[in-house]
Amino acid sequence: MDKLQTLNDKLSKAQLGGGADRIAKQHQKGKLTARERVNLLLDPGTFEEVGALVTHRTTDFDMQEQVFYGDGVITGYGTVDGRLVYVFAQDFTVFGGSLSETHAEKICKIMDMAVKTGAPLIGLNDSGGARIQEGVRSLGGYADIFYRNVQASGVIPQLSAIMGPCAGGAVYSPAMTDFTIMVEHTSYMFVTGPNVVKTVTNESVTSEELGGASTHSTKSGVTHLTAANDVLCLKQLRRLLSYLPQNCEEKPIEYPYSLGSEIREQLNGIVPDSPNQPYDMREVIRGIIDEDSFLEIHERYAENIVVGFARLGGKSIGIIANQPYSLAGVLDVDSSKKAARFTRTCDCFNVPLLVLVDVPGFLPGTDQEWNGIITNGAKLLYALSEATVPRVTVITRKAYGGAYDVMNSKHIGADFNYAWPGAEIAVMGAKGASEIIFRREIKSADDPAAKLAEKEAEYAEKFANPYRAAQRGFIDEVIYPQDTRRKLIRAFASLEGKVTVLPKKKHGNIPL
Ligand code: COA
Repeated sequence: MDKLQTLNDKLSKAQLGGGADRIAKQHQKGKLTARERVNLLLDPGTFEEVGALVTHRTTDFDMQEQVFYGDGVITGYGTVDGRLVYVFAQDFTVFGGSLSETHAEKICKIMDMAVKTGAPLIGLNDSGGARIQEGVRSLGGYADIFYRNVQASGVIPQLSAIMGPCAGGAVYSPAMTDFTIMVEHTSYMFVTGPNVVKTVTNESVTSEELGGASTHSTKSGVTHLTAANDVLCLKQLRRLLSYLPQNCEEKPIEYPYSLGSEIREQLNGIVPDSPNQPYDMREVIRGIIDEDSFLEIHERYAENIVVGFARLGGKSIGIIANQPYSLAGVLDVDSSKKAARFTRTCDCFNVPLLVLVDVPGFLPGTDQEWNGIITNGAKLLYALSEATVPRVTVITRKAYGGAYDVMNSKHIGADFNYAWPGAEIAVMGAKGASEIIFRREIKSADDPAAKLAEKEAEYAEKFANPYRAAQRGFIDEVIYPQDTRRKLIRAFASLEGKVTVLPKKKHGNIPL
């Protein structure tokens, strides 16, 4: 009986982490404890803890006097919608969730288990960084985790939630995972904090300004998603997982869906007649996909391109779409990086890609050229050309210049390419084209403006349509907008068995 009592005492102590006072402090900050988070993340009653009784081994600074079961991180496995996942949750009530050698060992152990069993890994980060009392042993622990993040990359989905501080080297584990989600106002991420920034650059900045959820979701693009509080963050993680498979050998799960007539008349009226008038590409997306199934990624970063997951006839797809509402949907440095990263995430986890095109070209200017639009635009071109998942394109309006090639054209391996009847597939818009090729004629005309208009109309008649491309087979079909959903469901169904073998290589050399 004593033995059972001993176990019971130890496990009860482990449940309390850093103790009732520190738990109360955590709650006062509007944060849940690590245990509460794990229990909300997983299906009720499914969490199996691993390593609850682990303690640190440090004796410097009399640390043997301060020992807490679990050592600042709760690790184990459970299920999300019945699917196995491995999880670690840093416990801020124990040494501020700081990472000791043993804390790192616990995380590494479950990372190894996740890879061995082919199950997603979810990390809930809330930590004061390296355990200061341990020095380099703690830094070694971080590197052990980073190394595993890289080995697991593209093998199992790795999701990171930032639910408190995440500073210094600690940022690089989430940065190397597939998705990061930050809780608004209670989390921040930065390589060096406001004090160091002040000392080195003399800038005065708050933690929130420097690395809060709003900064990273709009300015840096470091976080893919944000959530208003802990509970919504955990719900969002569950939702995100529903679009992904268990590992790179599997396909995402299919959700039950009964197909109806699939005609969506609202798609006929979305694109305005004038090529210069904006419209919201999200309306097109909503018109195509299963109801309420769109999970937008990087919603407020590089808004001139929209990316996200959705379901089409119950099946998970990734969508990349130019957004005419923002900068006329032009491709620039940030939107190219955003779409390239999303393409690679979908490709490594067997999520088919739908690309919706309305693109006037690349954004001109010194800012873009000096920031490497060439290299960054090439990222998207490379990522799409390399992707072997089923890839289908719909051109809703403009597909101009090099951007036509980049946006999942037939030439770079797309499987089906459709265009709506108002599509303009050309080197550039009719006005710009006429100004260049008919310059002399226009200049010498009695009425240059009338001549330009005449030439513009002639060019538009010839090229501002989808039919030249359709004649060449660069477009497989010009379709009625209202039929788009039906066409896409059939196209993706026909591509279920697609097999593409890339040339043998160690790995490609994507321009980074
Ligand atoms: N190593 C060891 N213990 C740490 C720690 C670390 N890196 N970070 C925090 N702690 C401990 C604190 O000593 C405190 O212990 P206590 O409960 O016994 O008093 C507890 O965690 C909570 O920290 P506290 O500073 O009271 O919380 P806070 O919410 O006011 O501030 C931080 C949080 C993260 C801003 C602050 O703790 C901090 O600056 N930590 C150091 C960050 C750092 O420089 N890390 C090393 C480089 S990566």
